[in-house]
Amino acid sequence: MLLLAPMEGITRPEFRDLIIDCGGVDVVATEFIRVSGYKQKLKPFVRHRIPLQIQFMSSQPDILATNIRRLKKIGYLKDDDWIDLNVGCPSRRVNSSGAGAALLKQPDRLKQHIDALRENHPDGPCSIKMRLGCDSTENFEPLLDMLESAPLDFLSIHGRTRSDMYSSPIRFEKIALAVKRLPFPVVGNGEIWSVDDAQKMLEETSVRGLMIGRGALADPYLFTALRRAFGEQSLPEHRDYTERVDELFDFSHRVLSMLESRQHRQNGAIGPFKEFSVWFSRNPIVGSEFFQGVKRLQHIGEIRTFIDTHAKLRLSTPYSS
Ligand SMILES: Cc1cc2nc3c(=O)[nH]c(=O)nc-3n(C[C@H](O)[C@H](O)[C@H](O)COP(=O)(O)O)c2cc1C
Repeated sequence: MLLLAPMEGITRPEFRDLIIDCGGVDVVATEFIRVSGYKQKLKPFVRHRIPLQIQFMSSQPDILATNIRRLKKIGYLKDDDWIDLNVGCPSRRVNSSGAGAALLKQPDRLKQHIDALRENHPDGPCSIKMRLGCDSTENFEPLLDMLESAPLDFLSIHGRTRSDMYSSPIRFEKIALAVKRLPFPVVGNGEIWSVDDAQKMLEETSVRGLMIGRGALADPYLFTALRRAFGEQSLPEHRDYTERVDELFDFSHRVLSMLESRQHRQNGAIGPFKEFSVWFSRNPIVGSEFFQGVKRLQHIGEIRTFIDTHAKLRLSTPYSS
């Protein structure tokens, strides 16, 4: 199973569509939806031709339960929807209210949240997305003790603690321990940027699925590359370098158009495009000069010209891996 990770500010409906169009992905996720009030206003969820994982963030199980019931009553949430709980967000503000990674410090409270998911969503897939711990991995084994009997369909693990943020190496041995101990499938997440990274995650942990976040921003065709590499689906054989350059820079044009269509201000898409470019530039075919170039630009037209010029440059001077 290949999943697009939830990413706040990024995995909005139009972006999910772009990734789905690139192929290979089984499930896409919303960004987290914070539920903090009993009568909170929420928008309907935009669906796709593949399952959508709707991710909630909560610090109070009864508020979570009430919102799930209400969303079902008004038809926003369907019985077979995939729903997920955020147990990994490292934001200080979020954690100070007891949500996100803070739940890792309170296994009992986490259990109450999981029960709230299951009791109010008995027929659809329920999962959590967690880190290895808050300040350390000290609590990881007690968490696994609790999770062993949790009514979940699967669980995804970002192989770091909250304090690790995004910097330390992924702790494969901890993910492997979860795979060994838990009766339901575990999905591995963290630093999968290439087929080799995915292979390493699979070999070291035996996870049953991969969840990819920033790697899909650097290479939206990574999911299809994984399918090809693991022989799960018949896809066009290897693309040559020119095709890779074309498809990647076409994708960046589509991201820009998508951002433009969702902005009301002129040039309002530029900021979000620059944020996207940070990750997109991690692709060696794209190169860090892409972000360096984009970050100086102030107009959409300039960005479009820059994308084309940079693509031509990459065709004439391929990167050497
Ligand atoms: C910009 C950004 C926004 C994120 N938003 C969320 C979120 O809404 N919910 C969540 O569970 N994780 C969120 N994450 C964490 C990712 O889902 C993922 O766990 C993390 O980036 C590690 O995976 P990766 O190395 O494949 O990117 C976010 C990460 C980034 C970079």
